[in-house]
Amino acid sequence: MANHILLFTLISIFQLGVISSHPIPNQDTSYMKFVHEASELQESEEYDYIIIGGGTAGCPLAATLSSKFSVLLLERGNDPNKYPSVLNEQGLLNAFVAEDDGQNPFQHFISEDGVENLRGRVLGGGSMINAGFYSRGHREFFETAGVDWDMELVEKAYEWVEETVVSKPSLSPWQAAFRSALLEGGVGHDNGFDLKHLVGTKTGGSIFDNKGNRHGAVELLNKGEPENFKVATQATVQRIIFTGLSASGVSYSDSKGKLHTAFIRKKGEIILSAGAIGSPQLLLLSGVGPKSQLKSLKLPVVLDQPHVGEFMSDNPRFTPTIVLPFQVVASSAQVVGTLDNNIHLQAFASPLPFFAPPSFSLLPPQSTSIVPSLAIFVGKFSDVYSEGSLRLNSSIDVKESPIVRFNYYSHPDDLARCVRGVRKVGDLLRTPTMEKIKTQDLEGNKRFQFLGLSLPENLLNDSAVEEYCQKTVTTYWHYHGGCLVGKVVDDNHKVIGIENLRVVDGSTFSVSPGTNPMATLMMLGRYVGLKVLQQRSS
Ligand SMILES: Cc1cc2nc3c(=O)[nH]c(=O)nc-3n(C[C@H](O)[C@H](O)[C@H](O)COP(=O)(O)OP(=O)(O)OC[C@H]3O[C@@H](n4cnc5c(N)ncnc54)[C@H](O)[C@@H]3O)c2cc1C
Ligand SMILES: *[C@@H]1O[C@H](CO)[C@@H](O)[C@H](O)[C@H]1NC(C)=O
Ligand SMILES: *[C@@H]1O[C@H](CO)[C@@H](O)[C@H](O)[C@H]1NC(C)=O
Repeated sequence: MANHILLFTLISIFQLGVISSHPIPNQDTSYMKFVHEASELQESEEYDYIIIGGGTAGCPLAATLSSKFSVLLLERGNDPNKYPSVLNEQGLLNAFVAEDDGQNPFQHFISEDGVENLRGRVLGGGSMINAGFYSRGHREFFETAGVDWDMELVEKAYEWVEETVVSKPSLSPWQAAFRSALLEGGVGHDNGFDLKHLVGTKTGGSIFDNKGNRHGAVELLNKGEPENFKVATQATVQRIIFTGLSASGVSYSDSKGKLHTAFIRKKGEIILSAGAIGSPQLLLLSGVGPKSQLKSLKLPVVLDQPHVGEFMSDNPRFTPTIVLPFQVVASSAQVVGTLDNNIHLQAFASPLPFFAPPSFSLLPPQSTSIVPSLAIFVGKFSDVYSEGSLRLNSSIDVKESPIVRFNYYSHPDDLARCVRGVRKVGDLLRTPTMEKIKTQDLEGNKRFQFLGLSLPENLLNDSAVEEYCQKTVTTYWHYHGGCLVGKVVDDNHKVIGIENLRVVDGSTFSVSPGTNPMATLMMLGRYVGLKVLQQRSS
């Protein structure tokens, strides 16, 4: 109870700060002229392209296709302007404390591993609730992702995204200190500010501008052709409609529960961009998936496709958290240290342990008049070998989360990387910069005041560090897979065995690209959009 009150006080103080420092959201909302609530749409309509999911990849994809064709973008969530807190950096906290009311942008789910996780449910998708760190994919991703990438087009697609949503952040004091610690702790080279994926220490891009305003995927909609473009919010797609083995339309419900249909014109397509949970879920609900699973749920089998929902991975995170002896301003990640191309260290500062796993809910005793600040180190890696799967829990309700399992650290190489990452955090804590965040105890000894589990005393002891990794495992929200390239879709992102249907989002990734995936997901939407335009004109 007492903890609840403390938590509440902290949240209030934090939000007060928000209101005074960022009174007016400053986003370009010209896309609003073609956004409609689904209930305003006809019962049945026809378009060249129907995109399911107005998220990180879906928005740039739909905007690109609208330059030449009629496009309907269907998003189950609301317009983000209805939730002003998602529109600025300080409101990031909401992603971790807001309850899931079934409608707001923060959909909770818990994987079978027992790890709490989040999905975006809002126009703009995950890019409207995430931490905003923008960094391009690593070179190996483009060499091994199963797609014959046109690298010139990739470059152009990244640039198209970046001119609208990316800023160079001005480093907060905590990010500047973390940056120094990375360099002192041997995570060289100093790469300055760069959007590219680089080994060493760099400041990355941010979708938060220097006033803290968020510029998410919704703003890429502004680049669409308004004449050709309709975006429907609160449009929950229930099923893809098939004629034989061709996708021909979708059925979706509006906020009043009324069903609508939309069909594609000749040569048109349906494109799934509902994310790594939503896309495999909708394929399964529509009858494309493992026959035994579909039959046991009494779903019609359109195509027996054993790989739908397979190869689900999440990027595990470990989060040593230290109570600071002074206050710092809250800050999301602006800096990254990358070891060996693959292990990534970032850090946050926060008045709340919102980046910590749920078992950390006890704050140390503090006077409620003091807002403690926390230094939060996070580590994760991009090439995760541990895999799990996704299956339906309900054959009827698309609003119910499917059952997902990621099997964190089931592959020994993942655990070995965690061990290396934790050891590196140990190195950072021995740097002169981090000496300053030690707290003095009553005997005058200086030490780090950990919140939750302390780093193991002996970081050279493999089993102690492995145990630390296992006990503290949580998510970096970079879950991916379920509709992999080469398994469910071909190298053009077309669903194998089905006509007129593609999947374009994080469900197609076998690894999460770069240090963080958002940049590459936005690029992917633009890239596939351009490819489709090329393919139709040739
Ligand atoms: C808390 C958090 C912090 C993160 N921090 C970062 C970060 O700092 N940097 C970074 O690069 N990445 C970050 N990520 C990860 C990144 O945001 C996601 O990987 C990315 O947004 C996923 O994009 P997507 O296009 O695959 O799916 P989404 O963006 O999730 O898009 C899917 C869309 O489909 C909609 N949808 C789903 N089902 C249906 C349906 N049946 N009918 C209609 N619409 C539907 C959803 O509402 C959603 O809008 C973070 C994620 C979270 C959750
Ligand atoms: C699956 O459905 C059952 C019955 O409705 C429910 O009790 C359970 O919590 C659901 N599982 C998940 C993972 O949502
Ligand atoms: C290493 O850690 C394990 C697990 O915590 C412990 O049982 C073991 O005694 C430690 N070994 C050494 C040499 O400290």
